[in-house]
Amino acid sequence: MYFSFAVALAAFPFLVGAVPVENSRRNVLSIPLSKRGPSQLDVRSLHAGTHHTMAKFQRGFEAFERNTGKRHPLAPKHGRLDKRSTPGNASIPLTDFHEFMWYGTIQVGTPSKEYSVNIDTGSANLFLPGPSCQSCQGHTIYDPSNSSTAKDLGLSANLTYALGNVAGHVFADTVNLGGLEASNGTLVVASDVAVNFNATNFGADGTLGMGLRGLSPFNATTIFETLVEENQLEEPVFGLVLAESNSELIIGGRDSSRFKGNLSYTPVDSGMGYWHTKFDNITINGNDIQINNTEVIIDTGNVLLLGDQISIGNIYKGIPGSARFNSSDPSFGSQFWTFPCNTTVNASISFDNTPFDISPDIFNLGTIGGGLCVGAFAEFPAGATYPGFWVLGDVFLRNVYTEFDYGSNGIKNGTQDGKVQIGFAQLA
Ligand SMILES: *[C@@H]1O[C@H](CO)[C@@H](O)[C@H](O)[C@H]1NC(C)=O
Ligand SMILES: *[C@@H]1O[C@H](CO)[C@@H](O)[C@H](O)[C@H]1NC(C)=O
Ligand SMILES: *[C@@H]1O[C@H](CO)[C@@H](O)[C@H](O)[C@H]1NC(C)=O
Ligand SMILES: *[C@@H]1O[C@H](CO)[C@@H](O)[C@H](O)[C@H]1NC(C)=O
Ligand SMILES: *[C@@H]1O[C@H](CO)[C@@H](O)[C@H](O)[C@H]1NC(C)=O
Ligand SMILES: *[C@@H]1O[C@H](CO)[C@@H](O)[C@H](O)[C@H]1NC(C)=O
Ligand SMILES: *[C@@H]1O[C@H](CO)[C@@H](O)[C@H](O)[C@H]1NC(C)=O
Ligand SMILES: *[C@@H]1O[C@H](CO)[C@@H](O)[C@H](O)[C@H]1NC(C)=O
Ligand SMILES: *[C@@H]1O[C@H](CO)[C@@H](O)[C@H](O)[C@H]1NC(C)=O
Ligand SMILES: *[C@@H]1O[C@H](CO)[C@@H](O)[C@H](O)[C@H]1NC(C)=O
Ligand SMILES: *[C@@H]1O[C@H](CO)[C@@H](O)[C@H](O)[C@H]1NC(C)=O
Ligand SMILES: *[C@@H]1O[C@H](CO)[C@@H](O)[C@H](O)[C@H]1NC(C)=O
Repeated sequence: MYFSFAVALAAFPFLVGAVPVENSRRNVLSIPLSKRGPSQLDVRSLHAGTHHTMAKFQRGFEAFERNTGKRHPLAPKHGRLDKRSTPGNASIPLTDFHEFMWYGTIQVGTPSKEYSVNIDTGSANLFLPGPSCQSCQGHTIYDPSNSSTAKDLGLSANLTYALGNVAGHVFADTVNLGGLEASNGTLVVASDVAVNFNATNFGADGTLGMGLRGLSPFNATTIFETLVEENQLEEPVFGLVLAESNSELIIGGRDSSRFKGNLSYTPVDSGMGYWHTKFDNITINGNDIQINNTEVIIDTGNVLLLGDQISIGNIYKGIPGSARFNSSDPSFGSQFWTFPCNTTVNASISFDNTPFDISPDIFNLGTIGGGLCVGAFAEFPAGATYPGFWVLGDVFLRNVYTEFDYGSNGIKNGTQDGKVQIGFAQLA
């Protein structure tokens, strides 16, 4: 564990934009999240995004090794997750990718200014567009020289996301999440961003990494972890509702009006940097699928469920009429599978002995014509070293309430030995 916890007894004033969730617990706040409206299926964009996701994990593993001096247990023993030849900032416009982009508003600096940020549990830094960034025009710019609390930490950083790369300089400043203030929040002030982050292609100004600190290229705590360390939270947890309406990021507690029954928790190894856990099984139309391993990284920065070729093939064997989508146009990749659009696919993933269903409407990403639709479970992109884990993104998280817990058990128990864990529940 990297943290020590204490219950914050102070009541925090609500600032603009903060929404109290439970009146009896004044420091549990939420940030409403928005989502780009639905649009056409764009397999090319999804394919390009998975290459960037592999590059993101590869960079995360490398940062982990620098920060801790140990190889990341999920890092490939030979080779890399990404193909070196894959350009870090391929200029494929990811228009439809944005359908799955969740963003909320935070306040940064003194005087404080509002920025919209994409919530990404698969990375661990806050980045905002900076004044010298040409390709950031149209976004709200964070200028450290306009904030009396900004501190230059004298470091530069390169970040990798599913949308491409961001280069910038590292500062510390006050960062306010839903009314809770991290006085020493680290952020990367971007001087160059991939074209997918420009104001036309990217609905938010920046990205808020909600992973664990081991992933930071400069070994910093995340904004959320800084809130925990600065004793701003009643409980060291955040929750996500990524629903069709009223999506929200809940900070410091849970919004029990948004889920049914109890949360089912599985342990997370906090030393791994990722929200990494294990599932029990995957079923398709009620049938258990033969799969190799059940290690999984929960990543809101990724749209799909990604798995190894054999396991994904086994999944689609359970869906009559399905076939790998292997277009003669290589920009579509060969990682996707199609199935007849008139088929209803009931997929479920079970955690802590509790199955969680994926709505057939979410499983079905859309049609490529000819009565064929693309499924939301896909193989890792060809060319990458196959990782020994799955990546679970929005197609699962949109069906559940998710709690990211840094050890609230310890606090409830009056000890500091709370376990890091992740909890899921059916949406209310
Ligand atoms: C990264 O931070 C952790 C926790 O503070 C510390 O134990 C570790 O030594 C740091 N790593 C480097 C390379 O500074
Ligand atoms: C910073 O402050 C200057 C002077 O007040 C102003 O012209 C500029 O627009 C500000 N920049 C940003 C990004 O807020
Ligand atoms: C970031 O990338 C640029 C260009 O590849 C490189 O020159 C620079 O050294 C990198 N900075 C860090 C901190 O890795
Ligand atoms: C994107 O690639 C171009 C050409 O390789 C390079 O000049 C630019 O610095 C890169 N941008 C980022 C953010 O990595
Ligand atoms: C963003 O990039 C796209 C190409 O992907 C371009 O058409 C658009 O004009 C750019 N927008 C801005 C604000 O630079
Ligand atoms: C603020 O954060 C930076 C970067 O994580 C760290 O180097 C510095 O020691 C922190 N300062 C305080 C006062 O905690
Ligand atoms: C939730 O957990 C509590 C305590 O373990 C138990 O009493 C209750 O029956 C559970 N409720 C549901 C709906 O499973
Ligand atoms: C599991 O992995 C082994 C070796 O990595 C491979 O031979 C086997 O086919 C895999 N099985 C499944 C169901 O993926
Ligand atoms: C995709 O099709 C090409 C020929 O069009 C073939 O060479 C390749 O092996 C196929 N890839 C997969 C993964 O089926
Ligand atoms: C789906 O459509 C195909 C032809 O397009 C037809 O043969 C099949 O019976 C249909 N299946 C269902 C379940 O309606
Ligand atoms: C899959 O998991 C669910 C929930 O834990 C369980 O009810 C079911 O029996 C499991 N299926 C198999 C085949 O193990
Ligand atoms: C509560 O604390 C005791 C030791 O004080 C420990 O044995 C127990 O496992 C803790 N329970 C939880 C749920 O953390």
